[in-house]
Amino acid sequence: MKKWEMTPRVFTGEDCLNRLEKFNGQRVCLVCDPFLIGTDSLQRVLTHLEKDNQVTIFSEIVPDPPIEVVAAGVEKMQAHQPTILVAVGGGSAIDAAKAMYFTMLVTGYQAIKRFIAIPTTSGTGSEVTSASVVTDTQNKIKYPIFDQRLIPDEALLDAALVVSSPPKVTAYSGMDVLTHALEAMVAKNRSTYTDAIAEKAIHCVFKYLYQCYTQGTDLRARIKMHQASCLAGLAFDAAGLGINHAIAHQLGGQFKVPHGLANTMLLPHVIAFNAHDEYACGKYAAIAVKLGLGSPNLDKKILVIKLQKAIVQLAKKLDCPMSLKEYGIAESEALAKKTLIAQNAMNDSTYQFNPILASTADLEKIYQEII
Ligand SMILES: NC(=O)c1ccc[n+]([C@@H]2O[C@H](COP(=O)([O-])OP(=O)(O)OC[C@H]3O[C@@H](n4cnc5c(N)ncnc54)[C@H](O)[C@@H]3O)[C@@H](O)[C@H]2O)c1
Ligand SMILES: [Fe+2]
Repeated sequence: MKKWEMTPRVFTGEDCLNRLEKFNGQRVCLVCDPFLIGTDSLQRVLTHLEKDNQVTIFSEIVPDPPIEVVAAGVEKMQAHQPTILVAVGGGSAIDAAKAMYFTMLVTGYQAIKRFIAIPTTSGTGSEVTSASVVTDTQNKIKYPIFDQRLIPDEALLDAALVVSSPPKVTAYSGMDVLTHALEAMVAKNRSTYTDAIAEKAIHCVFKYLYQCYTQGTDLRARIKMHQASCLAGLAFDAAGLGINHAIAHQLGGQFKVPHGLANTMLLPHVIAFNAHDEYACGKYAAIAVKLGLGSPNLDKKILVIKLQKAIVQLAKKLDCPMSLKEYGIAESEALAKKTLIAQNAMNDSTYQFNPILASTADLEKIYQEII
């Protein structure tokens, strides 16, 4: 038996922050991306929140939030005893809020009545997923935690908050959306429902991401990418991810490669590997046809190559380095981590949802392709 539900309520549009006005007489913990401090965007959030609520702000977030940041946030939460949790920012800020919330829950704190997520990147989809990715900096490992209690109650999608996102962040987080959707299309728990929304997300990325990258103030394109990000999040949370994310988490942990970029480098190679599976091959081929990359009469394997090429072409237009060397990691340093990265990827919780079994040697081979 499979279950399909969309747990978080999603509000979109320029007035969606009004949802925050329903809170009165609450203790609010606002976990806030540091880029927001002093901006009109944060002021807009605060204007909606500051009626007779007591608001405390935690903004000591860094990309790929380490355990220490989460611990500092938990300390602040323990002192403030919040009843409402609001996270506003990129995936790192939302994930940090989730990890703080998780820690509070497992230590017996039950007073948080509502958790609202407001993303400023498009994106991780963290505003609708049960995942939080935390970094153990000492051991250089990124750990995804999956727990249904981490799904926010509401996701507020105001694309105006994404407009300030610099081109690199736009490109990398946008390619993360594509990876979520493509992994979800073939992952072990895929279904017709997750396919439908993943397909739409893929279509939007190919249509609107380059426009967001070159014309960041184009609100129409930003809205489409923001919705695509949310859709891809919903898709992968139900369908699962796979070895693309399992290896990408290691690249983030070992070399601090931005998450979306790590996924981008790996994506064409993971598709080539997964296409050994007949079902996955058919799925990729069908996507290629839907994207107008070739006719359905073509051999499926040729269509898969066309999809791979289209991804590389998009990534190049977005100025994504496509290898660790291009990113600035010396070949010797990358090679030295090969076995460790493959072994750790096998232990990553996303690994198990890959459509086909990948051995350590397979993972090493894929990793070798991006050195
Ligand atoms: N929880 C999930 O479901 C999930 C899914 C995929 C990835 N992730 C994790 O999310 C993290 C990546 O998140 P991300 O790609 O959103 O990047 P990010 O949150 O790390 O942000 C990248 C940078 O952009 C800045 N920024 C964010 N929004 C901005 C804006 N509107 N204007 C200006 N600057 C802005 C941030 O301050 C930061 O410096 C990784 O740790 C990744 O592993 C989580
Ligand atoms: Fe991701």
